[in-house]
Amino acid sequence: MFDPYSPAFDADPFPTYRELRDNHPCFWSEHAKMWVLTRYDDLAAAVKDWETYSSASGNLMDELPNRAGATLGTTDPPRHNRLRALVQHAFMRRNLDYLEDDIRGAAREALTAIDRRRPFDFIADISAKVTVKTLFRLLGLPRESEDDQLVRNNAVLMVQSDPVTRGKGPEHIAAYEWMQAFAAKTIAARRIAPTGDLISQFSVAEIDGERLDEREVLLTTTTLIMAGIESLGGFMAMFALNLADFPEARRRCAEDPNLIPQAIDESLRFNTSAQRFKRRLQRDVALHGQIMKRGDFVCLAYGAGNRDERKFPNPDLYDVERRPVGHLGFGGGVHACLGAPIAKIAARLAIKEFLALIPNFRRTETTLRWMPSSTFRSPTTLMLEAI
Ligand code: HEM
Repeated sequence: MFDPYSPAFDADPFPTYRELRDNHPCFWSEHAKMWVLTRYDDLAAAVKDWETYSSASGNLMDELPNRAGATLGTTDPPRHNRLRALVQHAFMRRNLDYLEDDIRGAAREALTAIDRRRPFDFIADISAKVTVKTLFRLLGLPRESEDDQLVRNNAVLMVQSDPVTRGKGPEHIAAYEWMQAFAAKTIAARRIAPTGDLISQFSVAEIDGERLDEREVLLTTTTLIMAGIESLGGFMAMFALNLADFPEARRRCAEDPNLIPQAIDESLRFNTSAQRFKRRLQRDVALHGQIMKRGDFVCLAYGAGNRDERKFPNPDLYDVERRPVGHLGFGGGVHACLGAPIAKIAARLAIKEFLALIPNFRRTETTLRWMPSSTFRSPTTLMLEAI
């Protein structure tokens, strides 16, 4: 049964995805109250057709209050193109070299702090630390601030849902409010004393001669912090999980770090951390014998499309030689992930440092606890030990 609110479903959604792809490729989910698309070709077509599959009603499966229509991920062109153009330059590969030393330094510092004779939590001890430092540097947030772990904890909480009530609970809304207050404080400080960083520039930016309104500035800053920290941390955890579970892939990446970039792409395909996003139909659509009505919501299950054997032969194998061109791990079309170049650099450098120090490791727990989120799929802890 397709149940994006259940951590138990996230433990192994793949048999359900296969059943949906084969027998119900355009499926109405009572749990999610939306249509679910699972075949690669349908998803690849939907992300390119923003005029039909609109993001303006929100793109997170359970959208946060006020975000719809106000920022990246929740606006359609032409407004979306203009917002994206304002921040795009800071996220381009050629402008990111300055981050590399910080990422390497953060990974080394985190690795030095762990006791390699005992099990350690890859998420709390390594990926969370590297992610927070990378994002703080990128966004120009204060370094060595006491806020950094609070920022991380709230970013992770914001994207969760309550598996029982199937919606946002008070703790998720409180985390969102905390993050908006943190973003507002940062924006106010940058306006008084600009530091040339992304938030300083963005907080005074104009589109066609008009200043962005306060809500756009606030929610875009909040979105960048949330999207950056949760997505990158979750992805690094999934990558480490794949390396723990596939010893041959681990051995090859440790012996030849040049393989790590393609192992990252294969990880995004095989265990997609950004599993499911939402769109709203702007017209009726007939697909696989169903009529989806204008105004209906549609779940784009990227994690299912990435396991579609119609596109990727032998899809349930994590194969570092595969080069999965066109995978949906970063979405696609006009909303394709803005942070993809940063995510790839951070994951490559952190895992390279990790494998240099700990080339061989295993999981100490057979069962994983999955984060309760209808959009993202990653474990809450990943206990590893060196072998
Ligand atoms: C490996 C880590 C990451 C993964 C797997 C990931 C995944 C995704 C996916 C699937 C989307 C498309 C959402 C949709 O279809 O509606 C997306 C959009 C986005 N991501 Fe990422 N992301 C990652 C890292 C980051 C980072 C580090 C940042 C920022 C620092 C970021 C910022 C964004 C933003 C702003 C959007 C919306 C773009 C737009 O609508 O134009 N992401 N991401």
